[in-house]
Amino acid sequence: MSNNADANVQIEQTVTGSNQGTIIGSISGGVVIIYGNHIQKPEDIDPIQKLEDIGSEAVKNPYKGLLAFHEQDHNRFFGRYTEIQTLWQEFWRLHEPDPDGKYRRFLPIYGPSGSGKSSLARAGLLPKLQESLNGELQQLQIAVLTPGEKPIQELATVLLKTSAEDKLSVAKLAEWEETLNRPDTAGEYNGLQRIASLLPDIENRPLVLLIDQFEEIYSMCKEQNLRDAFIGNLLYAAKDRRCNVSVIITMRSDFLRETQQQPALNYLFSAQGFLVPVMQTAGLWAAIAEPAKKANQPLEPDIVQRLVDETKQREGALPLLQFTLMEIWEGLQQDKDPMTTLQQLGGVGGALGKKAQKVYEDLDSSKKASEKDSEKDIAKRLFLELVTLREGTEDTRRRVRLEHLRRDKNDDLQKVRCVVEKFARQDIRVISMTADDQQHQILEISHEALLQNWNLLQRWVEEDRDFLRQKRQIETSADSWQENSRNKGYLLQGSPLKEALHFQKQKTTKFPLSESAKEFIQASIKYRIRNRVKLANLLLIPVFLFGGIAVRYFRLSTISKIEALISFSEESLESNQNLESLLLLIEAGYKQKKNSINVSGNSYNTLKKNLIRSLSYLTEYNRFNGHSGGITDVVFSNS
Ligand SMILES: Nc1ncnc2c1ncn2[C@@H]1O[C@H](COP(=O)(O)OP(=O)(O)OP(=O)(O)O)[C@@H](O)[C@H]1O
Ligand SMILES: [Mg+2]
Repeated sequence: MSNNADANVQIEQTVTGSNQGTIIGSISGGVVIIYGNHIQKPEDIDPIQKLEDIGSEAVKNPYKGLLAFHEQDHNRFFGRYTEIQTLWQEFWRLHEPDPDGKYRRFLPIYGPSGSGKSSLARAGLLPKLQESLNGELQQLQIAVLTPGEKPIQELATVLLKTSAEDKLSVAKLAEWEETLNRPDTAGEYNGLQRIASLLPDIENRPLVLLIDQFEEIYSMCKEQNLRDAFIGNLLYAAKDRRCNVSVIITMRSDFLRETQQQPALNYLFSAQGFLVPVMQTAGLWAAIAEPAKKANQPLEPDIVQRLVDETKQREGALPLLQFTLMEIWEGLQQDKDPMTTLQQLGGVGGALGKKAQKVYEDLDSSKKASEKDSEKDIAKRLFLELVTLREGTEDTRRRVRLEHLRRDKNDDLQKVRCVVEKFARQDIRVISMTADDQQHQILEISHEALLQNWNLLQRWVEEDRDFLRQKRQIETSADSWQENSRNKGYLLQGSPLKEALHFQKQKTTKFPLSESAKEFIQASIKYRIRNRVKLANLLLIPVFLFGGIAVRYFRLSTISKIEALISFSEESLESNQNLESLLLLIEAGYKQKKNSINVSGNSYNTLKKNLIRSLSYLTEYNRFNGHSGGITDVVFSNS
């Protein structure tokens, strides 16, 4: 019962065991689940015992891999007992008015990527909400949706599915979308509340809306008015005194900055938000051991302990644990000892290496004539960028901005993004994608174990370690220069500059330097030109002093400047800076003409040769320098 684009899928699922019941629902675009009110389970008992009661029918693979646990997985979801209890109490507490008499039935569940938010809400809290309360069976209508690009449409769709209306009525859907989109005269979005009041038996069976992956409101929905309407509807319905609607959301904590922009949301997160804690030993033990036990194939304590040790205290390790458990289970079906499987995988995370290899092998290795890279080339560049090279210790992960993975500023970001997404897919998660404070997309390898367990990546790093290190050094120096207001003291000089130029000439096809590093090398070259010219002038001063011939000094000084310009044009060409080379040569030519000076035949020949080379490789015709802010408008004039 996961995301499904088919609007007509009907679900009918039987919960087996001593507390049998039927879950009936339907899916459309997002996800809708309407629980029947007849799932009854004993209250306040440990979920582990509870699941033993439910029975131990053969489950194909009791683990979930990289996917989140959903409602129908509640009988194989373990290790979150305390959190479920806390959330359940908090949910009902929010049904009481606060001391100011206000209602805030809005429960935000948040935490880092992959920390288990969706699973906790969907396989933990939702089934728990169906349990009886003080002997009374809870009669709730539960609907789940992920906002996606069109959150209002998703909301209207789940409401329609929950209603007594024709579930496929396009006209009704459009009408409700309109209702949700339109604020009232006071500017309040009361559409959700109004539609909810029309739902069957709403006074007795209030609606619980779970918005899973709430961050999609910021990451996928690009229209501010839709965002405002969606959030406005949720907030309004959650505070309404009739208590027809309560809202639960799950959100990645790296989007907190966005919610902070909105005072009402900010308040709700800080006053009643629930931060999903990292799973501790007892929880992990249950999460690892219980599904296998329930499937009548219990794991030995030593393997469980080993898996717990490899997972605890490691941020983002939960998906990897699940991934490993799936592999272990598959091995068990072929009578393979779990410890052997784990060793062959290379521990928790090793399985991930295999997954990465598979995705890589499926990438395209061809490229069009107009393209510099194939998908495979991009993948290699991508992963090399995502590794921090360490001395004497193991390499670690590195966070990189998506846009920095382009070969240069003219490179197609879409193709890079496409490759990244193949490794970041929800069922792959080799790479995790988040957003930083400025909404740049940040990429990171999802677990360091990949660095130790993906042989191809290890080979790439080893083959190119020295060049990668050199590239990083140049880029780090460029960053220091930028961070220190481009102070010339931070520019490259002497042999580091020579080496950087050599690198730029020889290695940029394979290891493209960042835009900032290119600029940095260019600034270093210019600075060296200026210094050389100054030095040449200083050396000529004795001629002036002792010879006393000012004109001669001036001529010699100008010749030395022109020759320096020609010589630096050569260096610029070497580092593929064709426009810079051309500008230097134009300046050399202008000085010659203006002062009626002829440089030596050698210099003149070099000037001519460089001019031809600059012009023939030139792809850039002009450059506007000096502006460092954003560009909002461009105007071209014929005059
Ligand atoms: N209690 C648990 N026991 C075992 N594995 C779990 C548990 N909770 C979550 N997982 C696993 O952890 C991974 C991440 O879970 P989930 O998708 O719920 O996290 P999330 O925080 O919602 O992720 P995202 O930030 O991508 O939305 C999945 O592989 C899931 O199967
Ligand atoms: Mg999630």
